[in-house]
Amino acid sequence: MALFSLVALSVFASFASAKCYDHSPAFPMPLWQHGTRDLASALHGISEKLKAVVSDNKYEMSSFSVELTSNMDTLWSQHHTARKQNATRPGTTHVSGDSQYRIASVTKSFTVLGVLYQHAAGNLSLDDPVLNYIPELSSPDSGKLPWKDITIRALASQISGLPREMGQGDLFGIRDPTDYGLPPVEGNGLPTCYWYNHFVPCNKSELFRDLKTKDPLFAPNQKSTYGNVNFALLGLVLENVTGVSYSDYMRTAIFEPLDLTSTFLDAPSDENAVLPVGQYYWGVDGGVLRPSGGIYTSSSDLSKYLRYVLTHFNALATGVNWFMPASWATGLRSFYGMPWEIFRTEKILPETDRPVTLVTKGGGQPDYFSKIIMMPEYGLGLTILTAGHQDLLGELQEILTTNVVRAAEEVIWRDVEKTYTGTYLATNSSLNSSLELASSPSTSLIVNTFISNGTNVFNQLLPGLHGSDEHPWRAQLVPTLLYKNETAQQGEVWRLLVTAERMGEESGVWDDFCSTDIDVASYAGLPVNEVVFWHEEDVIELPAWRVKLRRRIGDEEQAKLVVQELR
Ligand SMILES: *[C@@H]1O[C@H](CO)[C@@H](O)[C@H](O)[C@H]1NC(C)=O
Ligand SMILES: *[C@@H]1O[C@H](CO)[C@@H](O)[C@H](O)[C@H]1NC(C)=O
Ligand SMILES: *[C@@H]1O[C@H](CO)[C@@H](O)[C@H](O)[C@H]1NC(C)=O
Ligand SMILES: *[C@@H]1O[C@H](CO)[C@@H](O)[C@H](O)[C@H]1NC(C)=O
Ligand SMILES: *[C@@H]1O[C@H](CO)[C@@H](O)[C@H](O)[C@H]1NC(C)=O
Ligand SMILES: *[C@@H]1O[C@H](CO)[C@@H](O)[C@H](O)[C@H]1NC(C)=O
Ligand SMILES: *[C@@H]1O[C@H](CO)[C@@H](O)[C@H](O)[C@H]1NC(C)=O
Ligand SMILES: *[C@@H]1O[C@H](CO)[C@@H](O)[C@H](O)[C@H]1NC(C)=O
Repeated sequence: MALFSLVALSVFASFASAKCYDHSPAFPMPLWQHGTRDLASALHGISEKLKAVVSDNKYEMSSFSVELTSNMDTLWSQHHTARKQNATRPGTTHVSGDSQYRIASVTKSFTVLGVLYQHAAGNLSLDDPVLNYIPELSSPDSGKLPWKDITIRALASQISGLPREMGQGDLFGIRDPTDYGLPPVEGNGLPTCYWYNHFVPCNKSELFRDLKTKDPLFAPNQKSTYGNVNFALLGLVLENVTGVSYSDYMRTAIFEPLDLTSTFLDAPSDENAVLPVGQYYWGVDGGVLRPSGGIYTSSSDLSKYLRYVLTHFNALATGVNWFMPASWATGLRSFYGMPWEIFRTEKILPETDRPVTLVTKGGGQPDYFSKIIMMPEYGLGLTILTAGHQDLLGELQEILTTNVVRAAEEVIWRDVEKTYTGTYLATNSSLNSSLELASSPSTSLIVNTFISNGTNVFNQLLPGLHGSDEHPWRAQLVPTLLYKNETAQQGEVWRLLVTAERMGEESGVWDDFCSTDIDVASYAGLPVNEVVFWHEEDVIELPAWRVKLRRRIGDEEQAKLVVQELR
């Protein structure tokens, strides 16, 4: 009977979780605060690295503002003022956290936040067709675009199949078309706004008139592709359901409640404006395209915004986790969310293939290039605003993300070592039960030995959960981010997962296939792999095993010594 059930378990487990490597998150969400658990001091020399980048002559007319915030506090910031400024119209001559930039398409994330608020309020549904909220799209001569199949969610997720642009991004009129080998044409019927007419803002009738002439790129929900038109329409949807202008809605629903005092849709005065030499775009009004790229703001306001998003992304509306991908983009590592550009990479962490998830939104307008980057596992958010040369953003982003994530890992594993590792013995001393925990960035937190009532669990139950006799494994602990007592934030719930070790060369095609399953088996109704940490008593509870184990006195001291050595 015992044998039968273990075989059954192993068969089940091998189907459910074949070859799952490097589970994540690998640690509970850190609570970073300025001054305590100081991440900034682990960012060894990052300021110098950023200064070195802008010391290049190429960047003499470029300024930047970068800020790192946690879910609680701004942890670190750096600002740079261009060495060369326009003497007659310099804008700010001392760039700081309150200096204003154009953030271009980062605006799209604000527009979607507004849409999520309206969804949560029941004023619209993400899964309604857009024509429920834009009467013009129902008219019999509304063109060839399949409006009845395009939902609000599809617009927000860049998967509507709509053409990318209206009123911009056209080679017509820039210079002599024959320079490009393009035939000269009259351009009859083109819009008479924006790109085609000295940046005169396009209005909604011009938008609809232009869309009537367009074909879809893809069928709705077939494939994601970047599109500004999506967000112009979402702005109109917001106006339809709220009864106020897009700009008023953003101000009253987002800017004011989040105390974003430097954030506007109308161009602010020059006083705090970052105005690179040669810029002509400050003050250019997107009109109906404002919801796609109209916001002016500062890095310190964006830090406030990121703190809000980092702490609310899974609490904005029932059924919506705002950080989840809506579709894959191109390649293995890029995804579109609503409207996030999500990147998962294993290249940042040298010691493990555990992926780091970067939930981002970038923006580019003439002379302004920006990006917000949230790292939900780490509870961290980065803002990078640049004005000037377009290469600067990419250089800063590479340095900042790698240094910030590696510094965070350094602090995190030091804390994990101290808080969790050591030998835990049954609180009932006549019971021969014990658990030995260790950690490293490559293995994460693992169980090294597990004796229960004199039985070595590593020889009995765990291999059965793994389901392969040959493939090496480790017993990794994975946090669920839940607590037994949520009110008191006590009793951290983790799960023990039998995790495959990578075996170099001999990997098969299907080795990377993992349908995660963390609820592997129960014993008498309780999850056999549930591990609860009661830090106040330094106790681990194994509910299914009906046992509590306390960390051996001295192990914490031992761990502290290890930590000191690491420093
Ligand atoms: C919103 O759109 C609906 C459906 O297209 C339309 O009937 C309604 O009049 C619009 N409301 C406003 C305030 O524009
Ligand atoms: C939109 O702009 C066009 C061209 O400037 C103008 O004729 C039209 O009245 C405007 N429509 C609205 C609704 O403002
Ligand atoms: C929902 O729509 C109504 C009517 O337009 C508006 O008054 C209300 O403020 C909206 N709710 C929210 C949360 O914006
Ligand atoms: C400097 O600012 C003045 C005033 O706005 C403007 O006319 C001029 O074109 C600017 N020069 C450059 C190189 O940006
Ligand atoms: C401790 O364990 C022993 C041996 O299993 C058992 O007899 C005893 O009842 C346990 N004591 C408590 C307080 O659970
Ligand atoms: C320990 O194992 C013995 C048999 O080996 C069993 O009688 C006893 O009930 C077990 N105690 C616990 C607490 O698991
Ligand atoms: C506890 O059990 C383990 C595993 O069976 C065994 O190696 C060890 O000697 C036992 N310890 C005691 C004190 O009985
Ligand atoms: C959770 O913790 C709070 C505060 O310490 C306490 O009052 C409450 O009784 C606890 N709840 C449970 C279910 O233990």
